[in-house]
Amino acid sequence: MPSTTADPRTDGLEGVVMGSTAITMVDGERGRLAYRGFDVSELAGTVPYESVMHLLIFGDPPSADPSPEIDRALRHGRGWPAFVRGVLDALPPDQTPLDALRTVWSALSPSVARYPPTLDEAYPLVALGPTVVAAAAHRRRRTSPPPPRDDLGHVANFLYALTGTEPEPRRVEALETYFVLLADHGMNPSTLALRTVVSARGDLASAFVAAISALKGPLHGGAPREVSAFLDRVRGPERAEAVVREALARGERLPGFGHRIYRVEDPRAVLFHDLARRVAHGSERLEIAEAVERAAVSALSAAHPGRRVYTNVDFYGAIVLETAGLEPDLFTPAFALARTAGWTAHVLEQAGSNRLIHPDLRYDGPIDRGRWPRPPIRPSDRSGATRAR
Ligand code: COA
Repeated sequence: MPSTTADPRTDGLEGVVMGSTAITMVDGERGRLAYRGFDVSELAGTVPYESVMHLLIFGDPPSADPSPEIDRALRHGRGWPAFVRGVLDALPPDQTPLDALRTVWSALSPSVARYPPTLDEAYPLVALGPTVVAAAAHRRRRTSPPPPRDDLGHVANFLYALTGTEPEPRRVEALETYFVLLADHGMNPSTLALRTVVSARGDLASAFVAAISALKGPLHGGAPREVSAFLDRVRGPERAEAVVREALARGERLPGFGHRIYRVEDPRAVLFHDLARRVAHGSERLEIAEAVERAAVSALSAAHPGRRVYTNVDFYGAIVLETAGLEPDLFTPAFALARTAGWTAHVLEQAGSNRLIHPDLRYDGPIDRGRWPRPPIRPSDRSGATRAR
């Protein structure tokens, strides 16, 4: 396959501003992240996910915590519509929870795009998300999911749905903090995909399907799972330097390091590191992670003196997800579930002042290749021509 020429100044849309947002401020130079003006350090560990979702969508804090409106909508929507069970039953038994969620969202998409999207269309997708992910996880383990509990919050119910046991408070705290810190991050590949669908007046469910598809790869939402696999490979803190060196020598990207926007430490990485120090204190896993961080930051700084590379959200985020008791193939689904709050806000914001998103590509293929190398085939000859070939 012929390849095209890369131009690092424009490729990957780095630094391209495609519109404005009042949802989330990401300041990559100062390492600051704020939802509707509230620094995430103010919210993480203290404000429930439902209230953060409220803030992102409505623009102001709710009247009480957790947000009564969001709490009611999410509790109400977590039961099983019968046809969703049918969709899951039709999937291959080893379908990953992430793919199962994408497929169910796709099945919930209307056949003709409804526009403009409404908040009432988002609630069932967000509320049902944990139920679907947990059911897909049970299916792979050949166990049965428990019926949803409507006396638990959104995050605690997700943990309950996964295990069928009362979730331990420290696990709920870890996962709720994860959900809050991952709830939105301004522009990024999945939010771009989502807003692009809406900009063409697509429906909300189709936009969610586009977003989760863009999230799946290891450079975006697939990264925390790769972090966990990398730490497994290291096995002990004393091996960190050698494993990092070998990986870089093979040209691998170290998962959990680097970011398109942050030129200083990702504030979420700092908060997750603090949380990990608290909830995973003294564990060998944390020691391995810290040894990998030291080795990677020093090797990457030496290799790229002009562009400092630090841990990103997914590095200590993976330790936090492990502490919450999630298996690695639930990490990307957890990321997607957390991000539904931001995706909802972005769908509504895009539809609120919409212009079709339609960027351009620099064409660098051949310009004029003249005539086709064989004589023309008349339409009436077509079936014969296919057979003759
Ligand atoms: N491991 C090894 N090298 C890395 C790296 C990493 N994690 N992150 C960046 N680099 C290197 C790049 O190879 C590049 O080197 P080059 O100029 O010699 O090609 C240089 O640092 C600059 O990075 P760049 O490719 O311009 O960054 P980007 O903005 O295009 O990519 C990421 C950002 C996130 C895709 C990238 O840092 C990465 O692949 N990280 C690992 C995956 C990950 O953790 N993703 C989650 C992101 S939140």
